[in-house]
Amino acid sequence: MRTYIVGGAVRDELLGLPVQDRDHVVVGATPEQMAELGFRPVGKDFPVFLHPDSHEEYALARTERKSGHGYKGFTVFASPEVTLEEDLLRRDLTINAMARDEQGNLIDPHSGLADIRARILRHVSPAFAEDPVRILRVARFAARFPDFHVASETLELMRSMVSSGEVDHLVPERVWQEFSRGLMSLRPSRMFDVLRECGALARLLPELDRLFGVPQPPEHHPEVDTGVHVMLVVDWSASKGYSLPVRFSALAHDLGKGTTPSELWPKHHGHEARSVELVKEVAQRLRIPSDCRDLALLVARYHGDIHRALELKPETVLKILESTDAFRRPERFTEMLEACESDFRGRPGYENRPYPPFDFFLSALARCQAVDTAFIAVENLGNEKNAVHQARLTALKTPIKLA
Ligand code: CTP
Repeated sequence: MRTYIVGGAVRDELLGLPVQDRDHVVVGATPEQMAELGFRPVGKDFPVFLHPDSHEEYALARTERKSGHGYKGFTVFASPEVTLEEDLLRRDLTINAMARDEQGNLIDPHSGLADIRARILRHVSPAFAEDPVRILRVARFAARFPDFHVASETLELMRSMVSSGEVDHLVPERVWQEFSRGLMSLRPSRMFDVLRECGALARLLPELDRLFGVPQPPEHHPEVDTGVHVMLVVDWSASKGYSLPVRFSALAHDLGKGTTPSELWPKHHGHEARSVELVKEVAQRLRIPSDCRDLALLVARYHGDIHRALELKPETVLKILESTDAFRRPERFTEMLEACESDFRGRPGYENRPYPPFDFFLSALARCQAVDTAFIAVENLGNEKNAVHQARLTALKTPIKLA
């Protein structure tokens, strides 16, 4: 029995990146032998075990053959006769199809190291096309490693997987899993660029795909279209290390602009309400978690109002704080401001400009929070809600004394 480190751990080490999880392949063993050695079986669909001490994953070398649609449609064949080379051949990308033996030697039958050096994401074999998740994985790797590009033959294969309808068999949970990982990568826009180039974006997230080519209003820097603007917004939010809900809100804030009739361009009157409806639809279709959906709904609805902070009447400021539940959810309100800030900065030349609405709204929230609501409620029994509202309004109207 021989064991090898494979996949992401070998790739990341060669890239000089910290290695997160180490996956191992075992050649020449049966499940019974693994159990005897104290390995704990965990695989549902194929034989995978956890090491008794390190708890790292050890999978028996296997081959896979397509037997149906989607990522579950596989027949797995694992036996002590399957070689390491056969196991590496079933993998997605050359950079993920390398192994290290116990002596530290690199086993690289598909020239993964050369592709790492040349910064290329290239498929290993035509079997790539058997698993549509791989389209998403390639796009996500492009977002994680922004200096890599997709080999033209791989892009061609991905296009054929889209036109054959294979991509339509992806289950929503898997799409969101990969989208969310891509959003949390260094440059999320690259994931959407790759998906657009192969035609998958139009199938998986047509609401976003539609924004490319849609002009921005004149006051919003019309030199980039709405799709490009949204990409800049998402990348800016990633550059700040913002959370997944903020990055998803950045992605979804302008979806409504994609449904403006073209004769009304470059204006997008009422796009906020249409964005809200589309966020609801997308969230339902992709089973997006509620923290991401709820923040995106607020950002879609209120980003225009937040941008106008300095022109708003105190009544409107308070209404926004109340409607966004800012008093009970101040952290979420801050995330909302982070998404709005990303929207503002996602325009050419705006990357380093000050964004006064951020501090304006934080200070408005702090002034309202300083109101002693418990005391006011006791003093105004039966009329507590209105009394608290009025006291907060007074706080917002009171000029700030500078020391
Ligand atoms: N793999 C594959 N096709 C997939 C999923 C995984 O070929 N659809 C192979 C690749 O060789 C990959 C390995 O299984 O390197 C482990 O997969 P996974 O842990 O999902 O990804 P990693 O490449 O380790 O990347 P990450 O760092 O994102 O976990």
